[in-house]
Amino acid sequence: MHAETRDVWETMSTARTIRRFTDERVDDATLRRCLEAATWAPSGANAQAWRFVVLRSPQQRAVVAQAAAHALAVIEPVYGMTRPAADDHSPRARNNRATYELHDRAGECTSVLFTQKRFPTASELLLGGSIFPAMQNFLLAARAQGLGACLTGWASYDGEQMLRDAVGVPDDWMLAGHIVVGWPKGRHGPLRAGRWRTPSTSIDGTLRRPICWRASVGSVKLDLLTPGIEVGLVTTDLDSMTAFYEGFLALVPQGEIEFEGGSQRRYSLGGSVLKLVTYTTPPAAPAAPGGGRAQAGLRYFTIGVNKLRAVADTFAASDYEVVEPLTEFAPVPGMGWMFVADPDGNWIELFGTL
Ligand SMILES: Cc1cc2nc3c(=O)[nH]c(=O)nc-3n(C[C@H](O)[C@H](O)[C@H](O)COP(=O)(O)O)c2cc1C
Repeated sequence: MHAETRDVWETMSTARTIRRFTDERVDDATLRRCLEAATWAPSGANAQAWRFVVLRSPQQRAVVAQAAAHALAVIEPVYGMTRPAADDHSPRARNNRATYELHDRAGECTSVLFTQKRFPTASELLLGGSIFPAMQNFLLAARAQGLGACLTGWASYDGEQMLRDAVGVPDDWMLAGHIVVGWPKGRHGPLRAGRWRTPSTSIDGTLRRPICWRASVGSVKLDLLTPGIEVGLVTTDLDSMTAFYEGFLALVPQGEIEFEGGSQRRYSLGGSVLKLVTYTTPPAAPAAPGGGRAQAGLRYFTIGVNKLRAVADTFAASDYEVVEPLTEFAPVPGMGWMFVADPDGNWIELFGTL
């Protein structure tokens, strides 16, 4: 682990979190290269509104130690951590032992505080995007030089105020993170395979849990126009169907709407609407996959929404299938409809104000 590497793949794949360090001082030249690498990172508008503060004075280390102790008290119950017995050599005990050593010896370490200026126009998450790449560059530069590092949460919780006061960070600057560095002590295995368990990446266009990816592409927050759904029952035998729904079930028809190529006869059903749909060119019967034009039976349901154009834009930017594009509903100008398919291929009509 101490070995230097110039290979970027090796650097990334072996940049483990290091928590146990030798007493050897981190020299300025090595530290400066890490900081220089941090400055090569991208930032919003290339503003580079960051400050990296090396905490090395005895006073600053004392505050870091205090913040570390406080962070430990916070994370112990969260992770169910306790100090391992001396004869416990399980992987968990070894990992916990290293974590305790880092926090206990924090006052002996060199560390760097990463700060980012606030801008009222940007969310904190967006501003984080302007400083986290710098922190990652720092970590990779440390690894490339054989230096060990551990990102910590010590500048969070109550540690934030302690570190702010110790460094004199103005209120309009955020503490983005804190990294401890040192020369690694002991052996460190490769990166844990567990990192790959989350299918957050795809190189072949498929994902085991696509919802992870799709959620990150954008999501539609529906502004409901009506409280229920509208169910469209496509039929090739309207007479028999009306006899059943109107005659036998005694649903009261709300009316009939003609549209190009067909019509729908509507019934209130609590907060929802049932529509018997017929097409002038009748589809084949009985049920088959696809939307209403493919087959008779329960083919799709409708959700009434406001701001349909925005919904259509979001669908267009997503991986989900739009089976019939947004179209203004001729009988009622200002209203429109579109059909989308769910991942199983079921059709959903989105209908409402444009
Ligand atoms: C935002 C953040 C905060 C962290 N805070 C702490 C911390 O307070 N103490 C600690 O020992 N490790 C901390 N870590 C280190 C993580 O536990 C470590 O990166 C993760 O377990 C992966 O470990 P590995 O590189 O050995 O696989 C933090 C990591 C991140 C990204």
